[in-house]
Amino acid sequence: MNQAKGKILSNEEAKPGYYLMAIKCPPVARAAKPGQFLTVRCGNATEPLLRRPFGFHRINGDAFYILYKVLGKGTKALSSMKAGDAVDILGPLGNGFPWPKGKKDIVIVAGGIGVAPLAALAEKLLKDGKKDISVIIGARDRKSLLCREHFEGLGIKTMVATDDGSCGKKCFATDVLEELISVRRPFIPLIYACGPGPMIKAVAHVAKKRGLEAYGSFEEYIACGVGACLGCAIKTKSGYKLVCKDGPVFNLKEMIW
Ligand SMILES: Cc1cc2nc3c(=O)[nH]c(=O)nc-3n(C[C@H](O)[C@H](O)[C@H](O)COP(=O)(O)OP(=O)(O)OC[C@H]3O[C@@H](n4cnc5c(N)ncnc54)[C@H](O)[C@@H]3O)c2cc1C
Ligand code: FES
Repeated sequence: MNQAKGKILSNEEAKPGYYLMAIKCPPVARAAKPGQFLTVRCGNATEPLLRRPFGFHRINGDAFYILYKVLGKGTKALSSMKAGDAVDILGPLGNGFPWPKGKKDIVIVAGGIGVAPLAALAEKLLKDGKKDISVIIGARDRKSLLCREHFEGLGIKTMVATDDGSCGKKCFATDVLEELISVRRPFIPLIYACGPGPMIKAVAHVAKKRGLEAYGSFEEYIACGVGACLGCAIKTKSGYKLVCKDGPVFNLKEMIW
């Protein structure tokens, strides 16, 4: 883990309310693994005091990207930062996604802004020669659908579900997951997921029903980010775990819902 000053290379609005920021910071970028995260001091003032956590969206040599949704004062301050500004970061933090052993089909399930760290995962899996990757992206509507073109550009089979049917199928991402598993038999994929709590829970349910291995990245509220404040504890079958230190990625069969 490094505390370092990164240099913002770009900070563009990718879609209304969503920004893509590229940061050059060799010690953090070189050490980062998909599924790990960093915390960022948003803005130059002391307000907001707490750093905000973001997943590594893409990792590229000495630089990386974060993809973020503007929600409150931290992300609002971040969205006003410009190329050339310095940014105070701490990372990489957390465990990252466990790597698949042997030849396995892989299904990546993303919900909303949860898609952000899954792009880095897909890119690394492809780099490691994994070929059988499918991505399911769930979003509220077409306007909040992210990264579809990115995954398709990587040559990955990409399926879309929206709540209102304005893009892809009108259903939840987990309905598409169920369908995919039912039609492609035998199909025993390893599942990676990141998204809202109810989506992760639904993925865990599908995985349990079908006897599949599944990992989910949790986006709990994080304060210190380094295991010191115990503010991010969640209950698992093997006791309380810290999202920031033991996670954010957990084997879904370990979770208590
Ligand atoms: C490990 C991890 C990785 C994350 N990766 C990303 C990412 O790649 N991209 C991204 O956009 N966001 C990500 N998040 C969530 C992000 O950290 C929060 O959205 C951000 O901290 C909000 O800060 P803010 O000051 O703008 O909002 P605040 O003023 O703190 O809050 C504004 C509103 O957002 C809600 N909110 C704040 N934090 C969260 C959260 N963690 N989950 C759900 N709702 C929240 C609050 O309840 C409030 O309603 C991640 C969180 C974690 C723990
Ligand atoms: S945020 Fe402080 S222990 Fe996890």
